[in-house]
Amino acid sequence: MFQTQIDLSARNTLTLPARAEFFAAVDSVEQLAALARHPDLVGRRRFVLGGGSNLVLTGDFSGLVLHMNLKEKSLAGEDGEHYYVAAAAGENWSDFVRWTLEQGWPGLENLSLIPGTAGAAPIQNIGAYGVEAGDFLHLVEALDLDAGRPCKFSIDDCALGYRESLFKREGWHLSGRYAITRVIFRLPKRWRPRAAYGELAAELVRAGISQPTPGEMAAAVIALRQRKLPDPAEFPNAGSFFQNPIVSAEFAAALGEAHPGLPRYREADGRVKLAAGWLIEQTGWKGRNLGPVGMYEKQALVLVNRGGATFRDVQNLTRAVREAILARFGVNLVPEPVFL
Ligand code: EPU
Repeated sequence: MFQTQIDLSARNTLTLPARAEFFAAVDSVEQLAALARHPDLVGRRRFVLGGGSNLVLTGDFSGLVLHMNLKEKSLAGEDGEHYYVAAAAGENWSDFVRWTLEQGWPGLENLSLIPGTAGAAPIQNIGAYGVEAGDFLHLVEALDLDAGRPCKFSIDDCALGYRESLFKREGWHLSGRYAITRVIFRLPKRWRPRAAYGELAAELVRAGISQPTPGEMAAAVIALRQRKLPDPAEFPNAGSFFQNPIVSAEFAAALGEAHPGLPRYREADGRVKLAAGWLIEQTGWKGRNLGPVGMYEKQALVLVNRGGATFRDVQNLTRAVREAILARFGVNLVPEPVFL
């Protein structure tokens, strides 16, 4: 039912070395419930692992790693306005998005090619090119591992924000309180393209497309991602390594005056999001290495493992980049992946 002393280096896309004291690959909700009440495992720390694509392993994990392998994609329901589409937690996100498009249920196309699993999508409220998972999320089904009870979280319960959710805010992603088992998305039958994001709009113009279909939107997003973001198989990485900082309008205005090129995006609450990749590039860290890690040459926000890196190496580079940004811009960058 479970294994011990399992090497996790191939289970995190940054490929940091670490071992799990206990490890189980979970194929069913029943198995998950049985693991949660197993006498050898009760009371131990737990961590629910999806694709390991947004994860920084800081060392060996003493406790139980639950690798979510639950698979199922289905149409859970339909009304006059929406399709309700479900994915089990272990479904590969990118495959799920492609499948919804093949079925004729568009909506998630801007989120094409994001690595990781469907079950992880609400935790981080994954987002790209002007769309977040939360724009279409309907329901999250989970197992309360402490109580051994299934439960549901509505979109309001999830309290999603920018790369933020109830699950993160409460620390459940680290304490292993809940394991998300299935997510349901509500996709409007009346589709419209979401093409306002600058680089996406430019990509469509480049391709000569003025009224994109869902498939063309997906293709444009995939082309952009493939051009800028490193394939973990080639350059181990965990996606964006820092969050884009959100600052007050006054601070952003002053910074923008001093640095006219700085990309700024007004948030719904009036604050302003800054492009961390741009800030990093200005300090000269884009494409630069420190030991076996570096900031990627085509997208400065992505930290890549050039081979054989340890957590200490990641820490050193994180510190150096943060210090450079703080000294130059007075901005405190916060790492984006989950640190375990
Ligand atoms: N930029 C630079 N130099 C760089 C990188 C970016 O000047 O090296 C500038 C770009 O020119 C652009 C702006 O910064 O004006 C924003 O860049 P980009 O569109 O590449 O997006 P990002 O803000 O760097 C965010 C997400 C990505 C997501 C993209 C597209 C975060 C932390 N990251 O990156 O998500 O794919 O937008 O929507 O919000 C992830 O979370 O792992 C991730 C890859």
